[in-house]
Amino acid sequence: MATPASFAATGPLRGTITVPGDKSISHRALMLSALAVGESVIDGLLEGEDVLATAAAMRAMGATIEKRGDSWHVRGVGVGGLLQPQSALDMGNSGTSTRLLMGLVTSHPITATFTGDASLSGRPMGRVIDPLSTMGADITASPGGRLPLMVRGLCPAIPIEYRLPVASAQVKSAVLLAGLNTPGITRIIEPVATRDHSERMLAGFGAELTVETDSAGVRTISIRGEAELRPQNIIVPGDPSSAAFATVAALLVPGSAVTIANVGMNPTRAGLYNVLRDMGADIAFGQQRVVGGEPVADLIVTHSALSGIEPDPAIAATMIDEYPVLFVAAALAKGRTVIRGIEEMRVKESDRIAVMAKALTDCGARVEELPDGLIVDGTGGDFLAGGATVTTHLDHRIAMSMTVAGLVSRAAVTIDDMSPVATSYPGFAASLRELGVS
Ligand code: S3P
Repeated sequence: MATPASFAATGPLRGTITVPGDKSISHRALMLSALAVGESVIDGLLEGEDVLATAAAMRAMGATIEKRGDSWHVRGVGVGGLLQPQSALDMGNSGTSTRLLMGLVTSHPITATFTGDASLSGRPMGRVIDPLSTMGADITASPGGRLPLMVRGLCPAIPIEYRLPVASAQVKSAVLLAGLNTPGITRIIEPVATRDHSERMLAGFGAELTVETDSAGVRTISIRGEAELRPQNIIVPGDPSSAAFATVAALLVPGSAVTIANVGMNPTRAGLYNVLRDMGADIAFGQQRVVGGEPVADLIVTHSALSGIEPDPAIAATMIDEYPVLFVAAALAKGRTVIRGIEEMRVKESDRIAVMAKALTDCGARVEELPDGLIVDGTGGDFLAGGATVTTHLDHRIAMSMTVAGLVSRAAVTIDDMSPVATSYPGFAASLRELGVS
């Protein structure tokens, strides 16, 4: 059921919050733990709907997953040991669960059917169907290469060398995970670096994985299959994609001073924070440390006057989920922001270029949609008119980005449905309250 909510101009945001565990790392922690021999313990797991969909799927394929106290305990089946699920795997809203699990099923002697909600059922799966079919999976998809679809795995599967045609960590990870139970070496050539959590975690679990980077920055990732994974203790850092909302809200609302503790700062994820600093944002990185193989920091954010920017399209992969909230920052910056090279945004949980362009325009921002991006002429810090109702299209990041827009609007902005927020940031409303948003 849709849960609408309204947000309007607020006093300064102040205080310290933590954000839930990183979604990408949480999915991978569950999947690799479920393939290790023995018990892994995960702390800081995101308990959002997307990650719980992965947990349910891994249980359906034989893993034991339970929460004891604050930790998640996972007893794996061993690489090659996944069992035939007895019913369709419901992936909900989660593209990451779907694409990575399709990879796992590819090299196991099982058949799995994947279903999802209306948003997920509209998203393209051809990008994973192509390489996984080459590895031997027999995949029957709905028209347009969409869900519902069925994957019949092949064991042993065929190792491939695959050059990624789109910059996608999900496609890279699907092939790597298929390669885990495939004899020989599976190799991926990645012309544009995407988030590297799979590589880091596979190596941490003991898989034989190498990464070579040539002088042009092209990465070649090789994994030796029929790996044996050793159980691990994993600490999941806070999600930089979730921290982005309080960060931008604090930058835009005068008088704000916010600390977001324990945020993952993997360089393949931290692009937004660099762009905001280039726009003039006062963001300090406190307590920089490495936790569980991932760089982590406390973000100390103070209200700042921002200036428009033309971010280099080459950094798109490092902030691909953060563009909606960057658009909001640009709407209050001084001068013009030109964002190009982000056509991938059109195949996320919604068409994030079109949906944000409409939502911001309806709130009085000056925005021009481009085929591959957006031009935003900012107010120089003045609040937006607001007063609009935003259609979120089952997209959590639209809901949260436009909540931030509401906090800098004179008339309340109504979000038609906040329920998708539970996929990635179940405590979002509580975080805002902690920072004084009433
Ligand atoms: C993800 C990769 C990205 C990102 C998504 C999570 C991952 O998708 O948008 O939210 O965990 O691998 P693409 O691989 O489609 O770029």
